[in-house]
Amino acid sequence: MRLRSEQWYAGDDRNAYIHRAWMRRGTPSDAFARPQIAIANTASDLTPCNAHLNEVAASVSNGVHEAGGIPLNLPVVSLGETNVRPTAMLWRNMAAMAAEEMLRANPVDGVVLLGGCDKTIPALLMAAASVDIPAVVVPGGPMLTGTFRGVPLGCGTDVWRLSEEVRAGTLSQEAFMRSESAMIRSRGHCNTMGTASTMALVAEALGTVVPGVAGTPAPDSRLLEASHGTGRLIVELIEKDRRPSTFLTKANFHNAIVALAAIGGSTNAVVHLLAIAGRLGVDLTLDDFDRIGSGVPLLVDLQPAGRFLMEDFHRAGGLLAVLREVRDLLDPEALSVTGNPLVDYLDDAPIWDPEVIRARETPIIAEGGIAVLRGNLAPSGALIKPAAASAHLLQHRGKAVVFDSIEDFHARVDDPDLDVDADSVLILRGCGPRGYPGMPEVSNMPLPKKLLEQGVRDMVRICDGRMSGTAYGTVVLHVAPEAAAGGPLGLVRTGDVIVLDVENRRIDVEAPDFLSRTPGEAMSQAFAAPKRGWERLYIDHVLGADTGADLDFLVGSSGSDVTRESH
Ligand code: FES
Ligand code: MG
Repeated sequence: MRLRSEQWYAGDDRNAYIHRAWMRRGTPSDAFARPQIAIANTASDLTPCNAHLNEVAASVSNGVHEAGGIPLNLPVVSLGETNVRPTAMLWRNMAAMAAEEMLRANPVDGVVLLGGCDKTIPALLMAAASVDIPAVVVPGGPMLTGTFRGVPLGCGTDVWRLSEEVRAGTLSQEAFMRSESAMIRSRGHCNTMGTASTMALVAEALGTVVPGVAGTPAPDSRLLEASHGTGRLIVELIEKDRRPSTFLTKANFHNAIVALAAIGGSTNAVVHLLAIAGRLGVDLTLDDFDRIGSGVPLLVDLQPAGRFLMEDFHRAGGLLAVLREVRDLLDPEALSVTGNPLVDYLDDAPIWDPEVIRARETPIIAEGGIAVLRGNLAPSGALIKPAAASAHLLQHRGKAVVFDSIEDFHARVDDPDLDVDADSVLILRGCGPRGYPGMPEVSNMPLPKKLLEQGVRDMVRICDGRMSGTAYGTVVLHVAPEAAAGGPLGLVRTGDVIVLDVENRRIDVEAPDFLSRTPGEAMSQAFAAPKRGWERLYIDHVLGADTGADLDFLVGSSGSDVTRESH
């Protein structure tokens, strides 16, 4: 048997008749002997960042046809970060599971994965890893830069900034509302170095995107050219049997982590990469992110931590220009999906704008990356992104002000009588994968109004949830185990002294009796307790953030075999 799809289409028995007859609809007979290429398409009007992917799919189709394959549009679960409640992360694993099962169940030989908005590329890569058929990602690309009153607006990042200005009384509500229609200038995903941009670039560093494509703006005609080329490539991959398990190794994840650090990417990439590695059986741990990434210079000056946006990044040379600067830190063995080592693409990758992408000798921060903290508050680990934090808070002692849920936080944070000052440490719990459920992006809690009015712009915040890739601040997040899984975060009380020591990678509570306490009733009642449906399945099976927050029974791969018939 030459093609997987021949299990459906080859032969002259009754089953082959049924499989072919329903698919014909004008298709010539020889089409059933050609590679069948699914285009896993997350286009959806409710995922505005991915709404343009039907046009991308058309270009992929042209490339597939040209190379002798049969393109097949496969709409898959789509997750729009801004719309979906309580958080798109609750359905990343569901989207991955659904895509995996549909790829396995159908007569397809390979797949092109079309994603954009935050969860869509991670979910599709998890699916492709578990079904293990040839797969290539086409990232949908960022939107163009919008401006308001002559100043560029960064998606997400400037929403947080402007809304804090309104709360601080330095921007009128009316001006804030007018900025709304200026923020999203074109098709595409968020144009900051948020999770969508991060995951597109990291997917390329991992080797699953044709090198040089990630970061191409969504309206740029070069994206369609690249999509066409990817359509041709996937047909070639089937001939070569290049499946995820045949080329994605720890070396590929090493390169992804170097890239993540050099671009100053989103902390969300940590849970996504851990989950993808888990599907492949690659032994990647939380500590690898610190070990591999923390010595890597931050070279990209993009919001949320910096100044520019993705359109500037692409103009300045894009990911390959960044990787060329840190070439010696990359693993030269790691192959791209094209079959060539990723480092082979770095010879001709100049920096065109050294303000946006810095040379190795003039980094923004000499040691970028994401720091992994441990201590009695986070025995299984917690993250902080030092590049997005305030330098003066990286070593800090302060008294905890504890909130048991996001509702508790909103109810009390602006209370003028709340006992809080600039040195306090805000703690929010019940926001992990199990507790919320779905691990929402709430860790960058807004600061108390009375402190904002005093000019305070950052405080140490600690949470078992995530933070938007477009957010910033001195935020310790992904605290594991989460409070709802019995983690010590659930035992902290208001007034306890918290010690943050990023240099020594510590996060601790100074209270001798701390671990012998029992969790408070109010906190436990705030944890999610769904009775049925996906949420029930999810909280019963979700793993901690420290291992990627996948479901326990989805870790690993089942391959693409389906042995039983339907008729
Ligand atoms: Fe879709 Fe930001 S909301 S990428
Ligand atoms: Mg997000």
